[in-house]
Amino acid sequence: MRVGLAYNVKPADPPDHLPEDAFEEYDSEATVGHLCDALSRLGHDVRRLPAGGGFVDALRRESPDIVFNIAEGEGGRCREAHIPAVLEMLSVPYVGSDPLTLSVTLDKPMAKRLVAHDGFPTPAFRTFRSADEVASLPFPFPAIVKPVFEGSSKGVRLSSRAADKDRVREMVRFVTETYGQDALVEAFVPGAEVTVGVLGNDPPRVAGMMEIAPKTVPSSEFVYSLEVKRDWENRVIYRVPPALPGTVLSEIGRCALGVYRLLGCRDFSRIDFRIDGDGVPQFIECNPLPGLSPGYGDLPILAERMGTPYVSLVGEILSHALVRLGMGPA
Ligand SMILES: Nc1ncnc2c1ncn2[C@@H]1O[C@H](COP(=O)(O)OP(=O)(O)OP(=O)(O)O)[C@@H](O)[C@H]1O
Ligand SMILES: [Mg+2]
Repeated sequence: MRVGLAYNVKPADPPDHLPEDAFEEYDSEATVGHLCDALSRLGHDVRRLPAGGGFVDALRRESPDIVFNIAEGEGGRCREAHIPAVLEMLSVPYVGSDPLTLSVTLDKPMAKRLVAHDGFPTPAFRTFRSADEVASLPFPFPAIVKPVFEGSSKGVRLSSRAADKDRVREMVRFVTETYGQDALVEAFVPGAEVTVGVLGNDPPRVAGMMEIAPKTVPSSEFVYSLEVKRDWENRVIYRVPPALPGTVLSEIGRCALGVYRLLGCRDFSRIDFRIDGDGVPQFIECNPLPGLSPGYGDLPILAERMGTPYVSLVGEILSHALVRLGMGPA
């Protein structure tokens, strides 16, 4: 099969005036190479389709049977929807979630409202347009301050955990001024952090759960921030399965599958939770375009620990799309 790979890569020479993590979500050339390699090893004819202005021309030239989309897009909160929307307009089948799901999940407050509406626990929150708006919060400290529509811990630092109103104000100023968007301030959940890989459709399945445990601080102070993700070998331990009671694990699985369905995820996603003081999994966010960098992305790491090598993970994601689209064996 001819498989197009839609992607954004980090620029070799990022402009100086942008924040240090401006291109954090984009893939490295190495990751794109690993994915192309995996798809070739699965027997496909792989064509590269860089996202951006030349995408439609490349798509017409290469004429793929299906597009494997990992493009993060460029611009505002609908950026992840750009490539899938173009593909739908041109009737080209593609792997992964549709534009609505990609947009609603990138906007964390939107996703949280939907998730809460269906009864899944998610931390209480407020959004602020500027630091001057910050008054009292409807939940106790500590809080965490994040950009409303970013991923890969862009805009999340160790200092994003705020123990008082002054720090909240300072971090709201950092987010709104550095990233040009509102700040999400939510109740900080102090317990274990667990990310869940979900694969497939009708029905989806939990592919694995991984606890991201801090090596150097207690979990009550842990933030899986930019600093930690960039230095993960020294700062975290990945536990598969998480060191949590079976009842908590089954509740995490129930919430992950429920959230995957209600947000309309397709083929694959990674969903993040933190466990509160009562052992209740609190939904943090859903990533329908999880990083697929082997040995670095949480989903490939957790799949590997579950006994699914990288090439098999990529093959499984693609085959879920093919079956869903009626293009492959059921
Ligand atoms: N409410 C919260 N309580 C405790 N920790 C939180 C909370 N929200 C976020 N965090 C911490 O901050 C990290 C980054 O937050 P979040 O997952 O929302 O951002 P992201 O940049 O979209 O992440 P990803 O890299 O998974 O795309 C989380 O992994 C977690 O450690
Ligand atoms: Mg996350």
